[in-house]
Amino acid sequence: MEKRDECGVVFEVNGERFAVAEVDPSTTLLDFLRSATPFKSLKLGCGEGGCGACVVVVSRFNPVLKQREIFSVSSCLTLVCSVNGFSITTSEGLGNSKDGFHPIHQRFAGFHASQCGFCTPGFCMSFFSALANADATPPHAPPQPPRGFSSLTLSQAQTAITGNLCRCTGYRPIADACKSFAADVDLEDLGINSFWKRGEARVSKLPPYNPEEDVCPYVQQCREECESILNSERLSWFTPVSLEELGSLLITGDGASVKLVVGNTGTGYYKETEKYDRYIDLRYIPELSMVTRDASGVEFGAAFPISRVISYLKEEGKSSLVLEKIAEHMERVASIFIRNSASIGGNLVMAQRRSFPSDIATLLLAVGSTLALLRGRARERITMDEFLYGPPLAPEDVLLSVHIPFLDCSASDSRLGFESYRAAPRPLGNALPYLNAAFLADVSFKEGGGGVVNYARLAFGAYGIDHATRAREVEEYLAGKTLTVEVLYEALTLVKRAVEPEDGTSYPAYRKSLAASFLFSFLTTFVDVSSPTFGGSLSEVAALVSSAKQSVESSDYYPVGEPIPKAGAVIQASGEAVYVDDIPSPPHCLHGALICSTKPLARVKGVSFESVPKPSGIVDVISAKDIPEGGENIGATAFFGSEYLFAGDTTGFAGDIIAFVVADRQKEANLAARMAQVDYETEGLDPPILTVEDAVENSSFFDPPPPRYEPYLKTEVIGDFSKGMAEADHKILSAEIILGSQYYFYMETQTALAIPDEDNCMVVYSAVQSPEFTQISIARCLGVPEHNVRVITRRLGGGFGGKCQRAMKVATACALAAQKLRRPVRSYIDRNTDMIIAGGRHPMKITYSVGFKSNGKMTALHLDILIDAGFFIDFSPFIPHMIVAGVKKYNWGALSFDIKLCKTNNTSKSMVRAPGDVQGSFIAEAIIERVASVLSMEPFSVREINFHTHESLQLFYADAAGDFSEYTLPRIWDQLVKSSCYVERIASVQQFNRSNMWRKRGISCVPVVYEVVVSGFPGKVSILNDGSVVVEVGGIEMGQGLWTKVKQATAYALGLIQCDGTDDLLEKVRVVQSDTLSLVQGGLTAGSTTSEACCAAVIECCNVLVERLSLLATSLQEQQGSVQWNDLILEARNQSINLAANSYFVPEPSSTKYLNYGAAVSEVEICVLTGEKSILRTDIIYDCGQSLNPAVDLGQIEGSFIQGVGFFMLEEYLTNEEGLVTTNSTWTYKIPSLDNIPKQFNAEVLNSGRHPGRVLSSKASGEPPLLLAVSVYCATRAAVVEARKQLKAWGATQGTDSDFQLDVPATLPVVKQYCGLDYIEAYLRNLLAPF
Ligand SMILES: Cc1cc2nc3c(=O)[nH]c(=O)nc-3n(C[C@H](O)[C@H](O)[C@H](O)COP(=O)(O)OP(=O)(O)OC[C@H]3O[C@@H](n4cnc5c(N)ncnc54)[C@H](O)[C@@H]3O)c2cc1C
Ligand code: FES
Ligand code: FES
Repeated sequence: MEKRDECGVVFEVNGERFAVAEVDPSTTLLDFLRSATPFKSLKLGCGEGGCGACVVVVSRFNPVLKQREIFSVSSCLTLVCSVNGFSITTSEGLGNSKDGFHPIHQRFAGFHASQCGFCTPGFCMSFFSALANADATPPHAPPQPPRGFSSLTLSQAQTAITGNLCRCTGYRPIADACKSFAADVDLEDLGINSFWKRGEARVSKLPPYNPEEDVCPYVQQCREECESILNSERLSWFTPVSLEELGSLLITGDGASVKLVVGNTGTGYYKETEKYDRYIDLRYIPELSMVTRDASGVEFGAAFPISRVISYLKEEGKSSLVLEKIAEHMERVASIFIRNSASIGGNLVMAQRRSFPSDIATLLLAVGSTLALLRGRARERITMDEFLYGPPLAPEDVLLSVHIPFLDCSASDSRLGFESYRAAPRPLGNALPYLNAAFLADVSFKEGGGGVVNYARLAFGAYGIDHATRAREVEEYLAGKTLTVEVLYEALTLVKRAVEPEDGTSYPAYRKSLAASFLFSFLTTFVDVSSPTFGGSLSEVAALVSSAKQSVESSDYYPVGEPIPKAGAVIQASGEAVYVDDIPSPPHCLHGALICSTKPLARVKGVSFESVPKPSGIVDVISAKDIPEGGENIGATAFFGSEYLFAGDTTGFAGDIIAFVVADRQKEANLAARMAQVDYETEGLDPPILTVEDAVENSSFFDPPPPRYEPYLKTEVIGDFSKGMAEADHKILSAEIILGSQYYFYMETQTALAIPDEDNCMVVYSAVQSPEFTQISIARCLGVPEHNVRVITRRLGGGFGGKCQRAMKVATACALAAQKLRRPVRSYIDRNTDMIIAGGRHPMKITYSVGFKSNGKMTALHLDILIDAGFFIDFSPFIPHMIVAGVKKYNWGALSFDIKLCKTNNTSKSMVRAPGDVQGSFIAEAIIERVASVLSMEPFSVREINFHTHESLQLFYADAAGDFSEYTLPRIWDQLVKSSCYVERIASVQQFNRSNMWRKRGISCVPVVYEVVVSGFPGKVSILNDGSVVVEVGGIEMGQGLWTKVKQATAYALGLIQCDGTDDLLEKVRVVQSDTLSLVQGGLTAGSTTSEACCAAVIECCNVLVERLSLLATSLQEQQGSVQWNDLILEARNQSINLAANSYFVPEPSSTKYLNYGAAVSEVEICVLTGEKSILRTDIIYDCGQSLNPAVDLGQIEGSFIQGVGFFMLEEYLTNEEGLVTTNSTWTYKIPSLDNIPKQFNAEVLNSGRHPGRVLSSKASGEPPLLLAVSVYCATRAAVVEARKQLKAWGATQGTDSDFQLDVPATLPVVKQYCGLDYIEAYLRNLLAPF
């Protein structure tokens, strides 16, 4: 094999050859491609391997195995030097606007699978990799897929994308786009799309797919270079091809620091700050990259990628259950694009050396694997126990291979059992488990007797200990025992003692109870589980979407109301859509990163970079001292005041910005910020206020909003609470609910680029929801007039409310640095920092007292709410009003409240999709559930009896209720109960619960009433000479389809002109980026109504234009008989008619507020043993009035609902005792992924007819459906109630009542805790001594 040094790393990207002579060997492929090539489709979403935004596909010739390979990798972890000889395909390489799009891109667009689009290229590439592997090597093994389809199955098509995250869509449309390729798909089962109408599905209507053209060319791209390898002293990168070479590279005695590299995925977990003198790539040493097999077992080279280990084991597994099970478990390790490059050896070394919570170590420990090591020149073979519990491997020790033995039964009458387990937030992987386990047991079955355990190996891991461990005491206890109930009970008692998480581990009791659950599940595989004693099947629910239905009805204002694909969706898929960080850096551009406080309230004595090695590339450290004369220390400003940019002498909270370090490269700036040492002093300072209780004690509250906000924020008490309580038959007094925070998890983190312009001006590209406020903030900070500051925003990679205040600070910091240094400065905040500074949803403590009649009718409710608003006022004064608006969905009789906005030393909380409303609505549902428990009624009946009449609606929502005909909730409710078969399903849920002990189901139906406010927005429509139309609006496109609706509204309104050739106006309209110097008063894109307000603004503009043009059109028509649009425009130009119109839409005072309605039914199944839950089915009906675009609205409904599922069921946004966010990565913060969404997901956009006060009769869709996710929570609670009933039936006395408050989010530990951490023990105790 040729070895090459002279031209450095050589590889191809989208067919273009790159030879990189100089590169820092720690540079990732993503860094390189995004900064040194024109290819930007790969996005940086996390830099940890946890989101899939950066996925690219590589093809290469494997010189060791002598075969061509094609697979996906996360480019954020893959090192550029390790792709030497590879051919890389990015999404724009797959297809683009110039050469034609790939069918994957076209189908993603047509199935409405791209909203903000930031995740889309990554999804496309993950899916392409699966397609390529299925279809790259014709002729295919029979059966051939039908023409136009892939060989992929439905399940493979979905599994291919389970590691990719999307925060916008709710995944269902993405799954549909992928499923459309599958050989076994029934096209009629796929959701709404732009290819066919219901009942007309045919493959011929899809963008055609042909493997010969759409897959093979990319696979065959790898060329000659694949045969050569990289050995470069200059790059410090070495690729030994034998153990001898490796040995001489390691044993040099020169003291150089060495890093052994395979997939480099370990850096996703252990962020590297260290620089190494030498990188040694292990993948080309045959011993490390081969698999061999003999009679004793299989030996995998340590550099063998996990995905290949899985394939091999699956093949072997056809004759070995153990190997098959290991493979199945490994399929839940990380995600496909990680497993493709992550090596089995790398995993084990991380586990051994750094206590990584490995699944693989646990599996191999259970089966008695051995390992071959190279230490110095000596080889040795050791057991897994010796490996894990020996001293940490030295940097120059090499793991050579891993041996997995074939295992046989010990005797002819015995059965060998092997099972492995993991409990994690996501069923299909991409989430570390709370506990993993692998059990092996050999059990003899004598006639007439139960199974006798000959031996057992019980391994547990990832539960907060250094290494996977064996529960030897339990193993010894079980040996020789017959598996009786007594033995099971004792074994579980022992295992809970053996699995002891270290201090500081989260949920220790849960993890211990999981150990018992797993062992019980395993041991019962040796008894007859179908017997009534063992209470029904333990089998899991399939994790993927099985079906979905969407119904939409269109409107009267063509092309408004058409479900056209989102504007720009296809270029988002191909990765050509430009986000702020995709704008090429101008010459001499610098990069900044935030240095944030880790202390809540402390004096900052200084910032230094004393670490070794010292971070390189630092140009300046910008702080408050750099604010120019005339400028102010302001980083953000909005309705209620301003926030400082930099903490002054004293920090206000952990996450406060202390300084902005500017360096030559983003990586250097990030590293410098991470390594900055801040010298704090707290002496003499008061203790920080970190809880709402502290705030109350110190009377630390924000003032009420100024009177001018009264019309929006006035929240009045309703009725007489004391009187209502006096009328009550029952009361619940001073009950508490605690609600935590939620992080936005927009896929694109905060980012801006500031470019100094002539005459002391500044152009700032900012991913912000309010360019106008950003302009003000920058101008004030720099001390310049606002006309000196141009803020440009084209699109956001997700916002959800999080790109308001914090985005302004990043933009202002860049502008300040750019002004000082007279150079362009950009910043793309890393995910960890973003999560620390974001603030997120308002946590709160609610205390309520409620009175109600015996039939469930409420008579009075009083709420005391303490909201943790954090340090700055932000948008917090809106929150109390919004909470109350959410609570008012039911008729409480009388409603009173005392809500305090607590000022604390925590990050300031901001608007997160459906702010306040989601908590208010939750409070209402939580109270309904408790009242139902007290009365032993179905919550459904309590909900119904408390629905508003139109009169009570008028009373509760005085200025929003509208006309009686607009109150569609009762109609939606009845329709949903019917269409979801709610009543029939209650019976089947009950039946299921009667016959299953370990899995319980619940079903819940909830309504939503959501008040929105319409604000003023500007628009500008200009018609160009060729008849094309350019539109500007104040609203920002952030995935919600604002541009698409605006296009449709423009085409509709201009189409009212009486002339020919307006049929294709939609194609003639382009909405362009927001520019604060072109269109002023852009306001803030928030609150779900910006799209409709922008549509209204452009309609007003179009009306003016139509009026200006009508006279001319009529006269031309009279002269010529007819007139074409293009001719009309040309003539208008000649006649100097003004073809541009501006408008500022202001809603009529009576139309400023209105209510939205919807309802959802969800059915959930929980595993009582682990707390895992599956959403079996969700049905939603949501009233969009006459939807402006039903496909876009449906996307909002589904996406919003799934974000709500995150809030209620999954996402823990936690801090340490100083208020510093600790769940600040994709490792610790889990948003829903494809395997968390409802298996059956039916959503209907209801057309509720004409609404005269609304924009073209439409209603909002962005936020209200998020609240409907509480149906999942309530269904989960109902299932937990069933588990508690079961416990009671077994004689347990504690934790069995149905009157409890299930915590939010109802994560696995929470669900398990409320089901009973010793559920199985209670069951066994009952068997031993029946109650
Ligand atoms: C997002 C994500 C999710 C994950 N989820 C899981 C999970 O759920 N369960 C689980 O078990 N694992 C999980 N992992 C861990 C993953 O399996 C490991 O990162 C991977 O196997 C490491 O292999 P690598 O080839 O990339 O190692 P590298 O990153 O290249 O190396 C890791 C470390 O091992 C050293 N090393 C590598 N090979 C050798 C060798 N042969 N001899 C000596 N030293 C060596 C390297 O020097 C380095 O220090 C996850 C990883 C990521 C990024
Ligand atoms: S950016 Fe690479 S996986 Fe998230
Ligand atoms: S479209 Fe997936 S994150 Fe926005």
